[in-house]
Amino acid sequence: MSDCVKYEVHGEVAVLTMNKPPVNGLGADLRAGIVAALDQANADSAVRALVLTGSVRAFSGGADVTEFGTPKAAREPNLRVVIDLIENSGKPVVAAMGGQCLGGGLELALGCHFRVALADATLGLPEVKLGLLPGAGGTQRLPRLLGLEAALNIIVSGNPTPAIKFKGTPLIDEIVEGDLVSGGVAFARKVVAEGLPLKRARDLKVRDPQSDAFLQFARNTITAALKNFPAPLKCFEAVAASVSKPFDEGVQVEREGFLALMATPESRALRHVFAAERAATKIADVPEGTALRPVNQVAVIGAGTMGGGITMNFVNAGMPVVLLETQQAALDKGLATIRKNYENSMKKGKLSQAQVDERMGLIKPTLSYEGFRNVDLVIEAVFESMDVKEQVFKKLDEVIKPGAILASNTSALNLDKIAAFTKRPQDVIGLHFFSPANVMRLLEIVRGAKTAADVLATCMAMAKKIKKIAVVSGVCEGFIGNRMLARYGAAANGLLNQGALPQQVDGALQKFGLAMGPFRMGDLAGLDIGWAGRKRRQAENPGAYVPVVADRICEAGRFGQKTGAGWYRYETSKRDPIPDPIVEALIAEYRKEKGLTPRKISDTEVIERCMYALVNEGARILAEGIAARASDIDIVYLNGYGFPVHRGGPMLYADMVGLPNVVRRLRQFAAEPGADPSWQPAPLLVKLADEGKTFN
Ligand SMILES: NC(=O)c1ccc[n+]([C@@H]2O[C@H](COP(=O)([O-])OP(=O)(O)OC[C@H]3O[C@@H](n4cnc5c(N)ncnc54)[C@H](O)[C@@H]3O)[C@@H](O)[C@H]2O)c1
Repeated sequence: MSDCVKYEVHGEVAVLTMNKPPVNGLGADLRAGIVAALDQANADSAVRALVLTGSVRAFSGGADVTEFGTPKAAREPNLRVVIDLIENSGKPVVAAMGGQCLGGGLELALGCHFRVALADATLGLPEVKLGLLPGAGGTQRLPRLLGLEAALNIIVSGNPTPAIKFKGTPLIDEIVEGDLVSGGVAFARKVVAEGLPLKRARDLKVRDPQSDAFLQFARNTITAALKNFPAPLKCFEAVAASVSKPFDEGVQVEREGFLALMATPESRALRHVFAAERAATKIADVPEGTALRPVNQVAVIGAGTMGGGITMNFVNAGMPVVLLETQQAALDKGLATIRKNYENSMKKGKLSQAQVDERMGLIKPTLSYEGFRNVDLVIEAVFESMDVKEQVFKKLDEVIKPGAILASNTSALNLDKIAAFTKRPQDVIGLHFFSPANVMRLLEIVRGAKTAADVLATCMAMAKKIKKIAVVSGVCEGFIGNRMLARYGAAANGLLNQGALPQQVDGALQKFGLAMGPFRMGDLAGLDIGWAGRKRRQAENPGAYVPVVADRICEAGRFGQKTGAGWYRYETSKRDPIPDPIVEALIAEYRKEKGLTPRKISDTEVIERCMYALVNEGARILAEGIAARASDIDIVYLNGYGFPVHRGGPMLYADMVGLPNVVRRLRQFAAEPGADPSWQPAPLLVKLADEGKTFN
């Protein structure tokens, strides 16, 4: 008998307990173990009924993700076979469900003849979130048990529901109070004692008198809402087959849909993102289980745009924050902005007045460093100036207790220099939040040359607590995200030189799936920020500076939405970008001065230049060890830069295009007269392409 399934006999009931931590993933060993235990129970004449159960944490979380893409995933008996064997068992099988009962786990339970559950067991079919559909009969059995509309909602949304919500439906025969296994055994005894007939979901008919009208409505809604994702519609088609076709034919529709989806780039992207998010939490030289430093009291320095948003993250997680400013007026303004944000959430019904008061009550505003002794983590978000950072970090070094973590939210300054302002560089780290910091999920955790492993591990754990998705970056100008963004911006500006207009570049990239093209994004963020950066770099290295057309836009006083004009013009208090002939004239004048002859540029070329610029810099970042893995780069772009999730991030996109194709185009761009040398394909990219490998 497999170790994965514990087999016990309680009188006339055999209890099969799945035992594959952490979540009873239905890998090859567990599947084989279930079948062996089922056969044993059916062969034992003393056994009259079976209970199939799991752990307190999970009946089963579904497929074993660690076996994805390995031969074990396809090893027989596959899950459909296991479920059919259970459904065809001559003796009644009762599923006793607690904790997660998701995906293949729920499909397994649907194959049992009866189901009992703890009230808070979570039931769901989340396959759609990986661009798939439930492929082990779920689309056929769930509608038969629960009705068309409820089943379709569960399958198309992928969202889990507590078992108690299904009380009184054929999906849940009984809610168990107290011990789950005892409840399951008691229910099995009742089945035997009362001679209840075996309920096989496959034998039921879907009950819904108005299914045609409902299906038409549902198809239209799904088609309109989810245009970049093929999975919801395939889920719909499979569920619709449960109404119109016999069970075995419906299963065939489900099977075909599953195989078709498995081959789509969207599903590949979503599965990549799922794995990438898990991978990003692992740091090669920081072992899991590293002892963490305590973080109970947080301080934020600077109550501006970022400091306010950062503060909200911590108070939202119930942690008190000391918020320091130099002037009362700045402090008042920062607090008023935070309050306004909370009040807006209250107006939308997301927070109560009491919650707003409670959160504001967790913020201790101050103008002095008194009382900073108890602080465990301080995050500096003052002006982006090395002199100001020096002043602040020297002060922090004086007043903060030994062992506390000193973090900077700098976007571009050298973290190692900042660390050197203190006598404890091992305690200094970068916590690069993205604006608006209370909304954006991404947190780049910047590891300095001397940052201690436990400081890194503590910040990773803290990120999870405040619901951020953290990616570790090494120190370089712009870290992972903004360093790549600089190349992307340069590619977009280069397109203007060659003949495109901002609206064409933005339009092509938005059609590709980006939330906003680079020029609209620039207008939103403020063009003066980039201009200041270019001026700084020009001052640092005058010979290397190449003027860009963006300078002309700024010189005309057009800083974006905040000045009513930038790459576009804006009508008062509106945010819709309107193409502006003045910008066209400025671009035309610039091209003329530089002797550039405009040409027609296709949308495909816009995508190639902008995407391959990202990919090429991503490859350099990877080769330098600034990012630990290509998928970390994808996570940064998906969560911090509005990259479309159905593309899986820039590095996966390059894999899907084919690295030799990317290299070929980069070489063509690099060979153009006067081309920026950064178009030369990165050595790592060329190496992978030559070896027939991919980033991911
Ligand atoms: N704005 C963004 O999109 C963004 C994104 C990521 C990171 N950052 C970084 O975050 C930091 C802050 O940026 P911001 O946009 O919030 O700037 P901001 O100008 O809105 O806020 C800075 C605040 O710091 C205060 N301050 C200045 N010197 C101080 C001192 N010595 N002690 C205490 N408070 C002081 C100022 O009064 C001001 O309220 C910068 O390093 C910036 O590069 C900004």
